[in-house]
Amino acid sequence: MTDLKKHFAVIGNPIHHSLSPQIHAAFARENGLDIHYEAILSPLDQFKNTIHTLITQKLTGANVTLPFKKEAYQLATSHSSYAIIAEAVNTLEFKEGEIIGHNTDGIGLIRDLEQNLDTHLKHKKILLIGAGGAAEGVIYSLLEKTPSELTLTNRTIEKSSVIQNKMDVHAKSFNVHLNVIEIAKCPHQYFDVIINATSVSLSNTELHMDDKVFHESSLAYDMMYGKETSYMKQAKSRGSKVSDGLGMLVEQAAEAFFIWHHIKPQTKSVIESLRAL
Ligand code: ATR
Repeated sequence: MTDLKKHFAVIGNPIHHSLSPQIHAAFARENGLDIHYEAILSPLDQFKNTIHTLITQKLTGANVTLPFKKEAYQLATSHSSYAIIAEAVNTLEFKEGEIIGHNTDGIGLIRDLEQNLDTHLKHKKILLIGAGGAAEGVIYSLLEKTPSELTLTNRTIEKSSVIQNKMDVHAKSFNVHLNVIEIAKCPHQYFDVIINATSVSLSNTELHMDDKVFHESSLAYDMMYGKETSYMKQAKSRGSKVSDGLGMLVEQAAEAFFIWHHIKPQTKSVIESLRAL
């Protein structure tokens, strides 16, 4: 019997923790689609082979997570504009011999902030902490929302300067004041939205932010999810509203689902049921 189900996968290393199979299964169920979506562990030096094997197995698309987003960008034969700006890909479409690379992380963050957390960025002051792939993947989407100011802060100033140089032209076109500052020298002033895009909580170390960046009317967002980080605790103690990155995870998946199926899934119930777990 022929299997008419469309097949998808999420590829990473490690991958056992991934919630993407659950999220896509929930979206598919809600929309009456019968799909197969699995998590695949790719050896670190075998990403290209893993993708080519999946193509021969007639996959329709794949999500890509750490540490392969840059490699996925290199492998794609064409790219969405967000993928080009981030030079990273988290969603692949396999279509008529082409490998199309998308990046839905920025859209995922913005939808979580605006639609789920009712936090609008226009004319706001944003502090983005970190200058790795996670920060680079979302900075353009933040600029596009025309905050008054976006300050990028990182432990290693050189890395944030590289992103600043890349983003300066976009910041100017959106009329956003783009600064970089070393984390230890973070200004003694508050920001409306503070986003932790570092990998600190993965390494069981702590982020030491100046207390003054937080305020009772701030939102402190952590792109990590699954536990309350020390950063979230610090922000809470200053009276700020806090959120982890679970909503962003579901929203970036919703955009990938839209790319593959041309259906916009409901996200609220999926976020709620994952949070309940
Ligand atoms: P990712 O692709 O997940 O962003 P990455 O490229 O390794 O991962 O970047 C990790 C980010 O977390 C960097 O901004 C890193 O700061 P450096 O550029 O100075 O390395 C930041 N980071 C990791 N551990 C940190 C810590 N203990 N304190 C402050 N920043 C930290």
